[in-house]
Amino acid sequence: MQNPENTVIINLKHYRQSSSAHAERFIEGFVGIDTVPGVRIIFALNPIDLRLASSFPEFEFYSQHVDPVEYGAHTGQFSPQSLLDLGITGTILNHSERRIPEDVLRKTVDISRRCGLRTVVCCENATEASRFAAMKPDWIAYEPPELIGGNVSVTTSRPEIISDVVDTCSRSGVAVIVGAGVKTPSDYRTSLKLGANGVLIASGIILAMEPAKTLSSLIENQ
Ligand code: G3P
Repeated sequence: MQNPENTVIINLKHYRQSSSAHAERFIEGFVGIDTVPGVRIIFALNPIDLRLASSFPEFEFYSQHVDPVEYGAHTGQFSPQSLLDLGITGTILNHSERRIPEDVLRKTVDISRRCGLRTVVCCENATEASRFAAMKPDWIAYEPPELIGGNVSVTTSRPEIISDVVDTCSRSGVAVIVGAGVKTPSDYRTSLKLGANGVLIASGIILAMEPAKTLSSLIENQ
C-alpha cells in the first residue's frame, strides 16, 4: 500500500466562499487548527487558485484537475510539471464533476507519475475502481455521484461497495479514500473501519458555519 496514513482531502470546488476572490481568506481560516498526528490534511484548489499554495507553506495542496501535456503550446491547459513548479504536490483526476475519457485519464496518470505528481483518481463504482486501480494512481477515490453534495453519506449508504473497492484496490496495491455526503466524525471513522484511508469532502466543510472547527472535530477521536 503506497499511502498508509489517514487522509482528508478537502475539495474546495468552485464554491463562492472557497474559490477565486474568497479562496485566500477561506484557507487562512485553517491556519493553526488542531490537527491529529498521523492524519494528513490536503486542500484541493480550483485551478484559478493554484498560485495560493505558495502563501501557505504549512499546508499541502492538490489541484482539482490537470491535463496530459508538457510545457509548450497548449491553450487553456496546464501540465503536471507546472503544478509541481507551483508547490502543488498532487491532483484529483476524473471527478464526477470533471469526467475525462479513460485513455486521457491513463495518459495523465502516466505523465504525472513520471514527473512525481501524486494522483487521486475518482471512480463512481467498483467496476471502475478495478479498471482505474490498474493505472496505479496513488489513490482511488470512490464517490457515488448521486450522493455528492447531499446529506446521506457514502459510508452509511454504500458500505459494501466501499469494502469491495478497498479489496479490489488492495490487490493492485492502491489506497482508497471515499467521498460524497461525508459530514460527521462517525462518517470519517466508518471510512477507516471499512478499510479506506480517509475521505474526500467538500460541502460538509465548506458550507459549515465554522469550517476549521468542523474539520478538527471530524478527525478527532478517529
Ligand atoms: O470531491 C468531494 C466531493 O465530490 C464530495 O462532495 O459535498 O458531498 O462532500 P460533498
